Amino acid sequence: MRWTPDGSGVDVLDQTQLPERSIWRRCGSAADVADAIRRLQVRGAPAIGIAAAYGLAVELANATSLAPAAFGETLGAAAALLRQARPTAVNLAWAVDRVGAAAAAALAGGTEAAAWRAWEEADLIHEEDRAMCRRIGEYGLALFPELQDRPLRVLTICNAGALATGGMGTALAPVYLAHAAGRALRVWAPETRPLLQGSRITAWELSQAGVPVTVLADSAAADLMARGEVDLVITGADRIAANGDVANKVGTYALAVLARHHGIPFYVAAPSSTVDLATPDGASIPIEERDPDEIRRGFGRLTAPADVPVWAPAFDVTPAALISAIVTDRGVIASPLAAGISALYG
Ligand code: MRU
Repeated sequence: MRWTPDGSGVDVLDQTQLPERSIWRRCGSAADVADAIRRLQVRGAPAIGIAAAYGLAVELANATSLAPAAFGETLGAAAALLRQARPTAVNLAWAVDRVGAAAAAALAGGTEAAAWRAWEEADLIHEEDRAMCRRIGEYGLALFPELQDRPLRVLTICNAGALATGGMGTALAPVYLAHAAGRALRVWAPETRPLLQGSRITAWELSQAGVPVTVLADSAAADLMARGEVDLVITGADRIAANGDVANKVGTYALAVLARHHGIPFYVAAPSSTVDLATPDGASIPIEERDPDEIRRGFGRLTAPADVPVWAPAFDVTPAALISAIVTDRGVIASPLAAGISALYG
C-alpha cells in the first residue's frame, strides 16, 4: 500500500483479484480502508494493521478544518470503525491505538499538528514492520537446515509473505533470505480454502520472486508428509496468546497435528505486534466468522445446497504444545513457549 501522490488517500493492491489482475483500490477515508480490510482486499495481520494506521491518518488529514473537539470525535469514531473491521489479528487494534494516541497527544498543538503526527506514526509502523520482517527472516533462516544433496522442502499455509506485511513477510521471510543466499529450497503452498490465499497469493508472490513453489489441495498435506516430502512447516500468526497458543488461518491447527504425527518441526513466525499478553490463551482469542456464501458460492457458482447451513471460521487456534518454536523479530522462542514469551515480552 502507498500514499496517493497528493497525500489525501492511500492506494491498496486489491488482493482479491490476484493472480488474475493487479488492481489498486484508492481509499480516501477510514471507512474505505475498513471496507477494504473487511473484503480482504488488504489482508494478513501486519498488513491490515498498517492499512488501518494509514486509514486513520487519511481520515485525520481530511479533518484539519474541524474544531479540536470535533477533530477528536472524528478520531474516536474512525478508530472504532477501523478496530472493528476484523477481530482476530491483534495487529489491527494495536496499530490503530498507536496512531490514535500519537494524534491525540499532539492535538494540543492544533489539528494540523495532530494530523501530521498520525501520518508520521503510520509511516513509522510501516517502516518498523519492514525491519521486523527482516529480523524474523534472519532468525528463521538459522532454523532452516542446510542440505547438501537436495532442496529443503518447506510447507506453509495461507499467505504470510510480502503481501501480508510491510516488508518481505513473516513465514516467507526466511524463505526469501535462503533463496537470496543461493540455498536450494522448494515451497509447498496448500490452496487454503475457502479463499485460496495459498494458491492465489503465496504461489503468485513466490513465483514472481523466482522461488520454486508447488500448490496442493489442503487435504493432500497429510499424504505429502507421510511420503516424507516435507522437512519443516512454517506459518504466520494473527495473534499469539501469553501461553503460546496461536491463532492463524483456519487449517493451521490441522497442519500442526499432522506435523507432530510425522515428526516434522512446526514453526510459527510473527512480529512483536502479533504478541498479545493481554490474551491469556487461545480460548480467549476472538475468531472471525465470515459470510457463509464465501464457501457456499465460492467459485461464482453454488457449491453447497443453498439452504444447508455453513460454518465459516476464518481462523483456528493451534495449541502451544504443538509448536516447535515461535520466530519473532526479537529472537526464537522455544518450548515452553509461555516462559519464552514472558522472558521476551513480559
Ligand atoms: O484472512 P487472512 O488472509 O488475513 O489470513 C491471514 C493469515 O492467516 C496469515 O497467516 C497471518 O495474518 C499472518 S500474515 C504475516
